[in-house]
Amino acid sequence: MSTSLPQLDPLKQEALAALAGAGDLAALDQVKGRYLGPQGSFTTLMKQLGSLPKEDRPAAGKLINGVKVELESALTARREALELHAARPKEPVDFTAPGRRRGVGRLHPLTQVTDEIVRAFRKLGFAVADGPEVEDEYHVFDALNTPADHPARDTQDTFYLDTPGRPLLRTHTSSVQIRVMKSQPPPVRIVVPGRVFRRDNADATHNPTFHQIEGLYVDKGVTVGDLKGTVEFVFRELMGEDTKIRFRPHYFSYTEPSLEIDFTNSLVRKLGKDWLEIAGCGMVHPQVFENVGYDPEVWSGWAFGFGVERIAMLRLGINDIRLFYENDVRFLRQF
Ligand code: DAH
Repeated sequence: MSTSLPQLDPLKQEALAALAGAGDLAALDQVKGRYLGPQGSFTTLMKQLGSLPKEDRPAAGKLINGVKVELESALTARREALELHAARPKEPVDFTAPGRRRGVGRLHPLTQVTDEIVRAFRKLGFAVADGPEVEDEYHVFDALNTPADHPARDTQDTFYLDTPGRPLLRTHTSSVQIRVMKSQPPPVRIVVPGRVFRRDNADATHNPTFHQIEGLYVDKGVTVGDLKGTVEFVFRELMGEDTKIRFRPHYFSYTEPSLEIDFTNSLVRKLGKDWLEIAGCGMVHPQVFENVGYDPEVWSGWAFGFGVERIAMLRLGINDIRLFYENDVRFLRQF
């Protein structure tokens, strides 16, 4: 150890202690500047080398450099330790705790009930068809033999779009009957689940947007008996073996004869009712066949339209239709 640099060893010890004592990266940078920076103590010491006797200079220079290397490696080690510390999680981690589950969604109750109805029809060989929600008057009304003075065509009852061609939001899924028959030759066996729109004030049993399932069966020699048997099968699948249905005469411009379907089971009776109206149906009107290019002398068929909400409300015990559309997860989670 050179006696000509008596400050070296104390300075080294002081610098090592300061490095060890730096509590974070900012403090460490300060310490670095204080000892190793351009104005730092070691830099100053190096500059003093020149004032030593010539023969002492090489040994003293070597000594100072050795200490500098030592301090630099102490600095690097301290920096790594502080960086590691800074990167550690602030809260202790319990690696044995169960993982956090990601919330898995589920199908909306209306979708669930729609799927069940469709599944029942699939068992009978029906395929699923689809059509646009924004439609034209031809598919919603004219092709379905619905006269221009029919109330459904009134702007008070239907949403028209303010664009050329007078498009409208379809008021029923029956428009898809026309699209399908125009796109393929008979026979036809389809169901059409879909959203429909009517100008209506929302209350516990009405909503301007709701859902239907349309059905269409076209073949040779089709009868009302086939219709009754099909609807009965599907409702028993859906609502239980104790389900009964009945047909009442009605009027739709696209069917002749036209009927309404009521059904009953223990759920309906629990509501204090004898029967609940659930669908419209009938034998496809010959004019509709003419409109799509099917020969009514050869082909016969029936069609129906169910309201999905009604069925879902009964099946799931829901007393207000608006609950379906509010998307309150506390409600949706129950199904
Ligand atoms: N489109 C009718 C409605 O929305 C329901 C309906 C009645 C559909 C008779 C049909 C049918 O296919 O044949 O009230």
